[in-house]
Amino acid sequence: MAPLSLLPLAILASTPFASAIPSSHLYPYPRAACDKPTLDSAADTYVSAQTSGSLNTLHSLFASNFTYLENNKEILTEQSLLKKPLKIEHRRTNHDLVTCATYTELVAPTGPYVIGTQIKHDAATGKIVSIDTVASTTGSWLFNATKTLSYVLNETWVEIPEGKRDARATIQAAGDAYLDMWSDAAADKKVPWGTPCVRLEGSAYTGTGAATDSCKPGIPSNHNQAPNTHRRYVIDESMGSVSIFCVWEHMMNASDSHEFRLENGKLRYVHTITECGGKTCKL
Ligand SMILES: *[C@@H]1O[C@H](CO)[C@@H](O)[C@H](O)[C@H]1NC(C)=O
Ligand SMILES: *[C@@H]1O[C@H](CO)[C@@H](O)[C@H](O)[C@H]1NC(C)=O
Ligand SMILES: *[C@@H]1O[C@H](CO)[C@@H](O)[C@H](O)[C@H]1NC(C)=O
Ligand SMILES: *[C@@H]1O[C@H](CO)[C@@H](O)[C@H](O)[C@H]1NC(C)=O
Repeated sequence: MAPLSLLPLAILASTPFASAIPSSHLYPYPRAACDKPTLDSAADTYVSAQTSGSLNTLHSLFASNFTYLENNKEILTEQSLLKKPLKIEHRRTNHDLVTCATYTELVAPTGPYVIGTQIKHDAATGKIVSIDTVASTTGSWLFNATKTLSYVLNETWVEIPEGKRDARATIQAAGDAYLDMWSDAAADKKVPWGTPCVRLEGSAYTGTGAATDSCKPGIPSNHNQAPNTHRRYVIDESMGSVSIFCVWEHMMNASDSHEFRLENGKLRYVHTITECGGKTCKL
């Protein structure tokens, strides 16, 4: 049993979530070589647990100091969405071999749920140190899992050939610049806008299939809003992607997941998952 599970749930549940995010979720886990099969096997086990609603096999992978975050709140896995068996109709896992982590995107229209999950490992043992989930359901911002599924399945997220990959820092900087647009008037100039570029925000899709699709229409015009804070990253150079989890302080501190894909240094796809701001959507 993880030490945290010994804490009374009431204490965990009543902690304001922004301050409750442990530092282990905010900073990359030990910088060391990490093995893709280990990451894939753990991500597969996570998806199996979510499919069956049973935590038994997943539990055996937890490090002794394992923590579980759901929509920016630390809770017990026994009380979590993982206990709900879901029919998952879309799943994609990206790998961060530097921080020893994965990001998995899941869509389960019959839940209905759209879920983003960052899993961080201890690079030395391969054990899971944290599972960090941003989950949306009926009532969440722009939520319609059936629509989300149809758009997701029509996109092409393939590995970028070696030699054509963007640097980690470039990918992260693009995501950070984008998330800075709410609070920094200069940030949009730092975003490497691409053409075509498509945003999938909840179930709202800006793509038309045209070569001229742009991600710029509808970006924040008010740059004096509260910032997107407590960012946690999973970066996969082979996918040109960065997953960033954060707190949307400008939307009643809603939990938010933004994933960005760059191709040839330019922004190609943006996916967002955002919970209800100000109220908690029952998962
Ligand atoms: C959790 O344990 C790992 C070793 O398994 C260690 O590297 C890490 O610092 C620990 N994290 C915290 C937050 O205690
Ligand atoms: C979700 O979108 C689909 C496809 O556009 C639509 O048929 C369905 O009614 C929507 N569901 C809800 C709950 O609004
Ligand atoms: C699927 O993508 C193609 C090309 O990328 C586009 O022409 C088509 O409109 C898209 N379909 C949907 C349902 O978005
Ligand atoms: C959002 O979180 C910040 C930082 O913890 C806090 O100062 C602020 O009062 C919160 N806002 C709302 C609407 O809860």
